[in-house]
Amino acid sequence: MVADEMSGAPVVLITGAAAGIGLAVAIHLANHGYRIVAVDIDRPALDAAFARFHDRAVLRVVADIASAEGAERAVEAGVEHFGSLHALVNNAALHGKAWGGPCLDYSPEEWMKLFSVNVFAIVALAKAALPALARSAGVVLNMSSMVGYGHGHSSPYAVSKAAVNGLTMSLSQELGRHGVRVVGLAPGFINTPLVASGLDAAARERLMSLQAIKETGTPEDIAGIIAFLISPAARLITGATLLADLGITRRP
Ligand SMILES: NC(=O)c1ccc[n+]([C@@H]2O[C@H](COP(=O)([O-])OP(=O)(O)OC[C@H]3O[C@@H](n4cnc5c(N)ncnc54)[C@H](O)[C@@H]3O)[C@@H](O)[C@H]2O)c1
Repeated sequence: MVADEMSGAPVVLITGAAAGIGLAVAIHLANHGYRIVAVDIDRPALDAAFARFHDRAVLRVVADIASAEGAERAVEAGVEHFGSLHALVNNAALHGKAWGGPCLDYSPEEWMKLFSVNVFAIVALAKAALPALARSAGVVLNMSSMVGYGHGHSSPYAVSKAAVNGLTMSLSQELGRHGVRVVGLAPGFINTPLVASGLDAAARERLMSLQAIKETGTPEDIAGIIAFLISPAARLITGATLLADLGITRRP
């Protein structure tokens, strides 16, 4: 553990921290005094994203969380470096081919690859992190999606997000015995570079027309909601997944 002015600041491990929403969450929390364990499989992106941060503020860990060994190593590296862990943000996910695609088009191997990252990694990371989270009365936050509620999107990705919602409910009971909360967050369309490059103007307009509130969600919006959900202000929330989709799943 490092002894300096930051010791005592809460520690948050974020998977998929090198890009998109995970990167925005890591930067937001680092700027608000949290110490960050930034985990990603993409070393160059991770290094580029956090070059300006000292490792007393942001520890970069290159790991493939699709394997239980990689997930365990990521948690161990963070806990060893900072000496504690207060929140685990399970953000990394694979979207699947061509932005989803029919379930019947996926081979068993493709299903397994997607579920290894989107679902099984959450189990491995939660298991590895539980002792440290129990010591800090910590939080697990699982990233879901509006498509996990059947938003007109049939794909293994959507199925995996429905499974994430189920995991959030089940793990809240198991980890609750150790004083650890488990919460889910289900964003709608969020304007990350990857999503922005994959949607043409017509597709964006159609999505916007389905929303109750005609705004564009940003990764920074999601970072702010996560900061609330992992904070003591949300201490009554566990086992629930919060929709942050501008009303898209509630449309008539
Ligand atoms: N962007 C959206 O509009 C949107 C909407 C709803 C939900 N979400 C959810 O938010 C989360 C982040 O989405 P995003 O669009 O920012 O994703 P992204 O694809 O931009 O980033 C995902 C990151 O995860 C990393 N990653 C992938 N596999 C990994 C592995 N095996 N081990 C370690 N790291 C790995 C990637 O390298 C990448 O940096 C996901 O859970 C996604 O399902 C996103």
